[in-house]
Amino acid sequence: MTDFEPILAVSALTRSFGGLVAVNDVSFTVNQNEIFGLIGPNGAGKTTLFNLISGLIPPSSGQLLYQGESITKLRPYKIAKLGIARTFQNIRLFGTLSALENIIVARHIHTKSNVFNGVLSLPSAAKEENLALAKGKELLNLVGLSDRAHEKACNFSYGDQRRLEIARALALNPKILLLDEPAAGMNTGEKQSLSLFIRQISQQFNLTIVLIEHHVPLVMGLCDRIAVLNFGKLIALGNPCVVKTDPVVIEAYLGAET
Ligand SMILES: Nc1ncnc2c1ncn2[C@@H]1O[C@H](COP(=O)(O)OP(=O)(O)O)[C@@H](O)[C@H]1O
Ligand SMILES: [Mg+2]
Repeated sequence: MTDFEPILAVSALTRSFGGLVAVNDVSFTVNQNEIFGLIGPNGAGKTTLFNLISGLIPPSSGQLLYQGESITKLRPYKIAKLGIARTFQNIRLFGTLSALENIIVARHIHTKSNVFNGVLSLPSAAKEENLALAKGKELLNLVGLSDRAHEKACNFSYGDQRRLEIARALALNPKILLLDEPAAGMNTGEKQSLSLFIRQISQQFNLTIVLIEHHVPLVMGLCDRIAVLNFGKLIALGNPCVVKTDPVVIEAYLGAET
């Protein structure tokens, strides 16, 4: 990949569920280090698009290129390993595991230990465990949850669970982070600090971020560019000022919100 190539290219991507075309011939590119917003009414196809990019479901047609290579037919773990991590609109943590354990479990995608050297307690496995532990604590500290490392995830508030999910995604050392409505369930103050936090991690970890979010001020203030989906179709793409004043977007989405 050259510096000028987009890190992610979505090309004529389509996904149908029976007769419903949830994502309909969508094309756009995301640049390296960009904070890219994805907005649109409920049911517009935003989460389906994330499910396609992260390999959870295959497209009906179309292509996905990551760093210039096709990831269209890859399995989710492979895509995660290549550097695309995500959070979920419906939080998917292991509720009965502690915060720290939730992160360590995610990191196993990058550790070489397998069941055998784990069982045999080989030094290499122990070393990797310690590394995973240290990294997990570091990430909990980053998301402001270090004093609750050993509490069960199910006892956390929505806002804290969302932060924990971000920490878990970061444990994969991603290049792209897909955030599906990370501010849902947060109050205004939490939303503001989340916004600052997203900008901070994008710089600190040299991340490209794709953000699905309904809170319009957050999206407009944070994103370099915004794509608008409506009934599966891409209806607008551009910088926040352009999108905010686009009559088609106001009609389909912003009008209803404001
Ligand atoms: N697994 C599925 N099976 C059937 N229909 C689905 C499935 N996933 C999503 N859909 C439908 O696709 C459309 C887009 O959903 P979704 O991507 O979740 O929208 P958004 O995230 O923008 O609110 C909706 O009409 C939804 O009901
Ligand atoms: Mg959704």
